[in-house]
Amino acid sequence: MGTKKVYIETYGCQMNFYDTEILSGILSKTGHYEIIDEPTTADFILLNTCSVRENAETTVYNRIIQLKQYKKQNKNLLIGLVGCMAERLKDEVFNKSDLVKIVIGPDEYRRAPEILDNSLAGDIGVAVRLSRVETYEDIEPLRTHGLSAWLAIMRGCNHFCSYCVVPYTRGRERSRSLQSIVNEIEKLQLNGFKEVTLLGQNVNSYYDNSSNTTFPHLLRIIARAFPQIRIRYVTSHPLDLSDDLLYAMNEFDNICNYIHLPFQSGSNRILKLMNRGYTREHYIERIKQITKILQNFALSTDIIAGFPTETIEDHNETLNLMEEIHFDGAFMFKYSPREGTKSFKMLDDVREEEKIRRLNEIIALQNKHSKEKNQKEIGKIYEVLAEGPSKKNQIEWMGRTKHNKVVIFNNDKNLIHFGNQVNVLITKANSATLFGDVQD
Ligand code: SAH
Ligand code: SF4
Ligand code: F3S
Repeated sequence: MGTKKVYIETYGCQMNFYDTEILSGILSKTGHYEIIDEPTTADFILLNTCSVRENAETTVYNRIIQLKQYKKQNKNLLIGLVGCMAERLKDEVFNKSDLVKIVIGPDEYRRAPEILDNSLAGDIGVAVRLSRVETYEDIEPLRTHGLSAWLAIMRGCNHFCSYCVVPYTRGRERSRSLQSIVNEIEKLQLNGFKEVTLLGQNVNSYYDNSSNTTFPHLLRIIARAFPQIRIRYVTSHPLDLSDDLLYAMNEFDNICNYIHLPFQSGSNRILKLMNRGYTREHYIERIKQITKILQNFALSTDIIAGFPTETIEDHNETLNLMEEIHFDGAFMFKYSPREGTKSFKMLDDVREEEKIRRLNEIIALQNKHSKEKNQKEIGKIYEVLAEGPSKKNQIEWMGRTKHNKVVIFNNDKNLIHFGNQVNVLITKANSATLFGDVQD
């Protein structure tokens, strides 16, 4: 069999983007699969999918229909679904689309070469077993971006928020060994990477049994071992964000002072129905502690509008919590019922127009806060990691501060290169972006 070309398209969260690198690593290591970065000449097109909201799945179904055009060019083209939708729907996928011949869940990527081989012989392949132990820690991911790397240190989730499919598509929590993480960052450093983002659905509950390492402990070890590497992490859960973690962040300059801490709803009644396990008061207390321990930091969150039974009063409590905290940024969603979750059994009783109205109110308030917070950055100098030309033109470059804000700066003399750290004086800001001048 000659080399077959595989194109993988990724949807969903950062974990999926990392998994695409794992899957690419597994396939290319066989020597008879080559990963390519556009679909026209592909023998296989794999979509790495997300199930978190209905529209994430609709996007993928629409994409499958579009992929028919490639089938016209290459009638032997094979299409597969991998990731969370594959796990959620299993062989039901084949009833939904006759174009799809391969279904591989997030814990079965080691079997991908075998399944792809078999599909070449005409078989339909399904691998959707969830694992209690799989972390892929021995797999070398195939990375394309040379500056900032994803690194999943734990997988799965034990929280079972009532609206969420993730515990069903990703299985139970398990962590990689400390040593395997250190080894991987060492390789990243050798390959010129300047930033690593530690990933986990619930990253703060990282725990390596073999070395008794907690998440704050892990951060201290890698921050000390790799002072030249910026360290980020997502996502935190308000129940697992400990003071010790905040102290660890404060001890090291290279641990980025940015926290993503979803609150979901400002109403205690709704938080209880969501099975989030904390109250509004607990959340506010955590934020006070962050403010006390970290002097300068940025904070973002996730918010869901229109959960079942949410009243105007509940919604106002969400707005009110936003007013109390002033987040730098937020990911805001309207509630989407997911089959198999606990809240799916509840009546989805907030009308669609009302959900949209509430969501828009939340978005408008957040935009106001983002803008206000960004305006406060004017006059400050930040260390920015240069990522490359901005979307608009080649002269304006973009980069990020340690607190994860995007900064646009002038590079007309071409003195700044990919991966340089530059000091930038912020001179202008809108709700999404800071603008500034590079300091000599
Ligand atoms: N483990 C992370 C990410 C979960 S998914 C966490 O706990 O934060 C990312 C976000 O999607 C969630 O924080 C939540 O705000 C949103 N989300 C999850 N399920 C949803 C649903 N059924 N409807 C709408 N938003 C949802
Ligand atoms: Fe989903 Fe909750 Fe787990 Fe986040 S913590 S992945 S929202 S179940
Ligand atoms: Fe989506 Fe799966 Fe991530 S459901 S948000 S791709 S864990």
